[in-house]
Amino acid sequence: MKIIEAHGAHIPAIGFGTYTLEGGACVEMVAEAIRTGYRHIDTARMYGNEREVGEGIRQAGIDRDELFVTTKVWWTELSEDKFLPSAERAVEALGINAVDLLLIHWPNGSIPLEESIDALNAVADRGLTRHIGVANFTSALLDEACAMSSRPLVCNQVEYHPFLSQEAVLSACRRHDMALIAYSPVGQGGAVLDHPVIREAAERHGRTPAQIVLAWEVAQEGVGAIPRTKNKERLAENLDVFDLALSDEEMRAITELTHRRQRLVDPSFAPNWDRN
Ligand SMILES: NC(=O)c1ccc[n+]([C@@H]2O[C@H](COP(=O)([O-])OP(=O)(O)OC[C@H]3O[C@@H](n4cnc5c(N)ncnc54)[C@H](OP(=O)(O)O)[C@@H]3O)[C@@H](O)[C@H]2O)c1
Repeated sequence: MKIIEAHGAHIPAIGFGTYTLEGGACVEMVAEAIRTGYRHIDTARMYGNEREVGEGIRQAGIDRDELFVTTKVWWTELSEDKFLPSAERAVEALGINAVDLLLIHWPNGSIPLEESIDALNAVADRGLTRHIGVANFTSALLDEACAMSSRPLVCNQVEYHPFLSQEAVLSACRRHDMALIAYSPVGQGGAVLDHPVIREAAERHGRTPAQIVLAWEVAQEGVGAIPRTKNKERLAENLDVFDLALSDEEMRAITELTHRRQRLVDPSFAPNWDRN
C-alpha cells in the first residue's frame, strides 16, 4: 500500500468511502473493508453514519493505531461557536478518542475563512484530531487557508477522476506539501468506466476499468483515492491497484480525458471552481 506523507500525517493512498452507507450494512462493510486490508476510512458528520463506522471499526478488532480515520465538519457548522461542538459530536459518535484527520467539508463564503481555520486549529489543540485539512477548496482558497493556519493543512479532498482536471488544485497541494484525496474517484461508477481509453487499458492489463482509474490516481505524486462500494466483492478489487503500472502513454491518454471537465458534485453552495 502506498502511503502519502504530508506534514507528519501518513495517509494510506486508498481509503474506503462511506457516503450513503447506513445502519447494519455500513457496520458490516466497514468491518469487511478493514478485514480486506483497508487502513483508511472516510466519513463525515453529514453522512449520519459515524456511529456505524465506529462500530464497524470495533467489530474488525484492529489496533486503533493501524487505522487512519477521517471525518468532516459540515459547511453550516464552521463558525467559532458551532465548530468545536460539531467536532466533539463526531468523535463521540465514532467512539474513538480522536480522529486522524478532521476536514472542513465545504468552504462557506458567508463565514470569514480565518474564523473557520482558527476553529479547525482549536479542534486539534483540544486533541480531537491528529491532523487537519479541508475539502472542496479551490487553489485560491487553499493558498489563503494555508497562510492563515497555525497548524499545517495536510490534505484537500476534492472530486477527481479521468473526466475532471484538477491541475490547479493539484499544483496548489504540491506547493503546500499537501495530499490531494480524490473523491468520486471511479466517477460514481458511471461513464468514466465505459470510456474506450479506460476499457482498452483494462483489457491490455487484464484488470477492471475501476482498477485502471484508481491506478492512474495513485500513480500521481501526493494523490490518494477513497472509492465507495456496497458490494463486498469490489472491496478487494478497488484496493488491489498498487502493482498495476500504467505506461507513460496510458497515463497521458487518461490525463487527456480530464479536459472534459465533467463535474459530478456541484451543489448550490460550491465555491467558484478553478477553471482548468
Ligand atoms: N468531500 C466531499 O465533499 C465528498 C463528496 C463526495 C464523496 N466523498 C467521499 O468520497 C467517497 C467516494 O465518492 P462517491 O461515493 O461519490 O463515488 P465513487 O466512489 O466514485 O463511486 C461509487 C459508485 O461506484 C460504484 N463502484 C465502486 N467500485 C466500483 C467498481 N470497482 N466497478 C464498478 N463500479 C464501482 C459503486 O457501486 P456499488 O456500491 O454497487 O459497488 C457506487 O455506485 C464517498 O463515499 C465519500 O466518502 C466526499
